[in-house]
Amino acid sequence: EAAEKGGFPHYMLKEIYEQPWVLENTLGGRLLEEVGDVDLGLELDPLEVDRVHMVACGTAAYAGLYGKYLLEGLARIPVECDVASEYRYRDPVVDGKTLAVAISQSGETIDTLEGLREAKRKGARTLGVINAKGSSLTREVEAVLYIHAGPEIGVASTKAYMAMLAAMAMLAIRFGRARGTLGQEEARALIRELKKLPRLVEEVLEKRPLIAHIAEKYHQAQDFLFLGRHVQVPTAYEGALKLKEISYIHAEAYPAGEMKHGPIALIDERLPVVVLATQGPLYEKTLSNIQEVRARGGKVIAVATEGDEEIRKLAQDVVYVPQVHPLLSPMVSVVPLQLLAYEVAVLLGRDVDQPRNLAKSVTVE
Ligand code: G6P
Repeated sequence: EAAEKGGFPHYMLKEIYEQPWVLENTLGGRLLEEVGDVDLGLELDPLEVDRVHMVACGTAAYAGLYGKYLLEGLARIPVECDVASEYRYRDPVVDGKTLAVAISQSGETIDTLEGLREAKRKGARTLGVINAKGSSLTREVEAVLYIHAGPEIGVASTKAYMAMLAAMAMLAIRFGRARGTLGQEEARALIRELKKLPRLVEEVLEKRPLIAHIAEKYHQAQDFLFLGRHVQVPTAYEGALKLKEISYIHAEAYPAGEMKHGPIALIDERLPVVVLATQGPLYEKTLSNIQEVRARGGKVIAVATEGDEEIRKLAQDVVYVPQVHPLLSPMVSVVPLQLLAYEVAVLLGRDVDQPRNLAKSVTVE
């Protein structure tokens, strides 16, 4: 088993460190930089659908939410996101121009399978964004976009999430190009940025000692709050999920702009608040949220873009991530959150790879 972990103490850590390689694999051979498009080898014609329903559970559902921002932003196609256990029972409005996108690492999650079947019964077209080859889901969808993350053993998903994000970005570029809403130059720029990601994620992994230090400071906290805006909302959700899954610390995530409608009441000097504050159109708005947290004594751990000196004055702790296209910032920003959850869990003596009450894949309802 020690050999399988490749010298790492846990599968989860090994899988976190595999992410640069995973990105190479997911993106590999699919990016057509010259023409400004991606080749996903899908039979499915983007012009035959006029809306998308993301159906998934857990971490995969957050990848779907990221996909919503990208598909709506770049391809101007309306996207709805549901956790599959709601989707399958809520009698969604579906027709032959609806594309149901089932996202799953294992391809065996029962709610996701049933959600997909429900969409199919209602006449939807179907696409699976899947890791496990030959899994049940692959046999039930019209088209499969494999994420090629390799086997994931740690119960808390890390590298599969990274690969799902990359798959969502490629899907949005393909749809945007096909629908004529994404220009060639803009697509090329995004593709160039996608190509840089493996190297950039590698750089973020070098921040582990700093993150271990932050974990040391805050691992006794009872609760954590995670905040982000736009594409960093799913990152915030995923960061909170990782922390609660493996450290058993209560963590909540909110879109930063919604903080004033509730979670602000929780803020005091005992509450660490992780803020995704990377550069992008809403950066200034996020800074105001940080000020609101500080004014109430909350401790701010910011994930910010390299070179941002301003944020040092506001946050107690800053983890810098490399500059990248704002739409792709989740791929570099989620890594510190995975490492934070990991380091906190280890400090608390938790069973990182086999957290209590959780299963790698939930095949019964
Ligand atoms: C379980 C796992 C999660 C995973 C979710 C969905 O809850 O513990 O890590 O995100 O199932 O799994 P799937 O295989 O469908 O992506």
